[in-house]
Amino acid sequence: METVNEKRIQGESIDLSGVEEILEKYKGVRGALIPILQQVQAVYGYLPEPAVNLIAEQLNMGASEIIGVATFYAQFHLTQRGQHIIKVCCGTACHVKGAKKITEKLSKTLDVRVGMTTEDKLFTLEEVACLGACSLAPVMMVDEDVHGKLASDTVSEVIKTVKESNISQ
Ligand code: FES
Repeated sequence: METVNEKRIQGESIDLSGVEEILEKYKGVRGALIPILQQVQAVYGYLPEPAVNLIAEQLNMGASEIIGVATFYAQFHLTQRGQHIIKVCCGTACHVKGAKKITEKLSKTLDVRVGMTTEDKLFTLEEVACLGACSLAPVMMVDEDVHGKLASDTVSEVIKTVKESNISQ
């Protein structure tokens, strides 16, 4: 049975006591929405809907207002993210060197659309602006690692290596 602090989301139960602790810490503090969202995201890895609803209730705001703020700042995520974040650069240099093909290859290999997370929650695929390594175009980052001068087959190799390292952990 669900407790007051527990809500079901996407078939999983989520413990909201972490959110309550954070809200308690900021009780009566004005302008605390951003730090609250940052800390909630640090706990869950994203901003789960029940957490947003609870924050809205406690701060006397609309959930849609909070979602509006979260959507405005790129640092916040409203859906669960994968264990590994793939960022494909779509800046000018990478675009010219075929970044679209890299994204398509990843999308096909992982069976996931841009902005989404694979079913096994292993990868989230994102497109981002210039990663600052234009001389290596086309470029992608997997977590903190930069991979440059990519081609379809090297993309597959990178994914394979990441999957293998996951298995051996
Ligand atoms: S345009 Fe891709 S790294 Fe600069």
